[in-house]
Amino acid sequence: MRKVIHNELYTKRFGIELAQKLKPGDIIALIGDLGTGKTTLTKSIAEGLGITEMITSPTFTIVREYMSGRIPLYHFDVYRLSSAEEMNELGYEEYFFGQGVCVIEWADKIMELIPQGSIIIRIEYGINEEERIYHITNIT
Ligand SMILES: Nc1ncnc2c1ncn2[C@@H]1O[C@H](COP(=O)(O)OP(=O)(O)OP(=O)(O)O)[C@@H](O)[C@H]1O
Ligand SMILES: [Mg+2]
Repeated sequence: MRKVIHNELYTKRFGIELAQKLKPGDIIALIGDLGTGKTTLTKSIAEGLGITEMITSPTFTIVREYMSGRIPLYHFDVYRLSSAEEMNELGYEEYFFGQGVCVIEWADKIMELIPQGSIIIRIEYGINEEERIYHITNIT
């Protein structure tokens, strides 16, 4: 599915609406260049899940856990991952096959680890500064 996101407000609306449909075990793989809005989208998903904690970019920790919402949120940013082995070391399977929702920024770096059934959102820049194009698919 292709969706045109006109500006940041639409990103937020999209994230909040997506969050309503999420259930334990769901995985959202975000793929998109620097500044396409992966963290912004993740924050809106968190808001939609009712998470009250402040969402910070997990860049130096790979994963952060937020437990205050309707479902736990595991926010990954694998941009600085040095090897897939590092994912094993942090016990990613506990997260991916657990009872929370995983959102993974830069998921293309670990595509071989992304399970079937995950939702992939590939984000591209649109025709102006504010616009983004979402390409939403399911891994089957
Ligand atoms: N439609 C939009 N959706 C989301 N963010 C937008 C949009 N239009 C403009 N922006 C701006 O783009 C920036 C997106 O930053 P954000 O940190 O969310 O991107 P990112 O994809 O997580 O970047 P990184 O690759 O560094 O992790 C913000 O400054 C935001 O204000
Ligand atoms: Mg980010």
